[in-house]
Amino acid sequence: MYFLAIETSCDETAAAIFDERPAVLASVVASQTDLHARFGGVVPEVAARAHLQRLLPVVDEALRQAKLSLRDLDAIAVMNTPGLVNALLVGVSAAKTLAITLDVPLLAVNHIEAHIYACRLAAQTQVFPCVGLVVSGGHTSLFRCRGPLDFALLGGTIDDAAGEAFDKAAAMLGLGFPGGPAVEREAARGNPQAFALPRSFLRDSRLDFSFSGLKTALLYLRRDLMAANAGSLTPEIRADLAASFQEAVVDVLTAKCGRALDVTGLDTLCVGGGVAANGRLRATLLAATGERGARLYIPPLEYCTDNAAMAALAVEKWKAGDWASLDLDAEPTYLGRRASTASANEPAVHSRFD
Ligand code: KG4
Ligand code: ZN
Repeated sequence: MYFLAIETSCDETAAAIFDERPAVLASVVASQTDLHARFGGVVPEVAARAHLQRLLPVVDEALRQAKLSLRDLDAIAVMNTPGLVNALLVGVSAAKTLAITLDVPLLAVNHIEAHIYACRLAAQTQVFPCVGLVVSGGHTSLFRCRGPLDFALLGGTIDDAAGEAFDKAAAMLGLGFPGGPAVEREAARGNPQAFALPRSFLRDSRLDFSFSGLKTALLYLRRDLMAANAGSLTPEIRADLAASFQEAVVDVLTAKCGRALDVTGLDTLCVGGGVAANGRLRATLLAATGERGARLYIPPLEYCTDNAAMAALAVEKWKAGDWASLDLDAEPTYLGRRASTASANEPAVHSRFD
């Protein structure tokens, strides 16, 4: 069986083709970074228009790489939630049209759950049950994943996502967009202990996150350092700020993953999303899971950042007969299931989702 998957939730136009194992035959991503860079962030309308222009060529390229034609496809998958609504609508409309014209099933995939499924796809082995961490520009969430179709939210950010904090930190430090890779490069030359920046909820038992205080602390620290240095930052101080900021984010993410493993009693951690590309985060998570004797799965970089191959979660849905109907809509907010009641194995969690 051949599945075509479409991704247009944010600023990457992507299509992938995989089979029922699932094994990926083609994964094509057209990034819009160049279009949004001068605005310092993703502009929703610009993203939606670019998806319209790029989606069909991207689908054609995926088919070409897989040496298939449209008539060979057996199902169409689309990530319909969460994301920028106008951007999502482009992918959902295209997927529905293809499903109708080819007369094949339509499968709806949740983008956040797909980020965790990328670990299963890349590892080519079962990773469930596991704790799942999704750290991207739009999300920072922890899940208890009993299986590929059973995700329960344990906690999430109450304000900014970790990736968004990286992007804002990069803007403050004059490092450009997208910020994550730029901060990581700068941090490599700096001292992570140079400045003590806040680590929100670090010792708090809940599994929620907050990064807005860290952003504000960086803003004022930068202002004070610039005032003390004739209005500019020396290259050394900029690198130290980047390293100290990155260390604060990584500390919190690592501590909360450890706590989620403890309270769920699970021994596997799967991490997805763009921030999972961060080398320092990968290293600390590896050390933390190693100490616990837990397994760690992080996909290769092309499956950490947005892509359509991770929608191979659709294969599990197809096997379970969980097909979408043709009135499928784009859903901008995450409508996942919250871990229900607090118990000995499950912490009481509080956040904006309650
Ligand atoms: O998953 P993704 O591609 O798109 C969303 O669904 O948001 O994640 C993009 C985010 C951006 O905020 C970007 O700055 C961040 O991931 N990112 C990184 C790194 N590479 C990408 N953050 C920290 N370190 C990196 N190396
Ligand atoms: Zn994403």
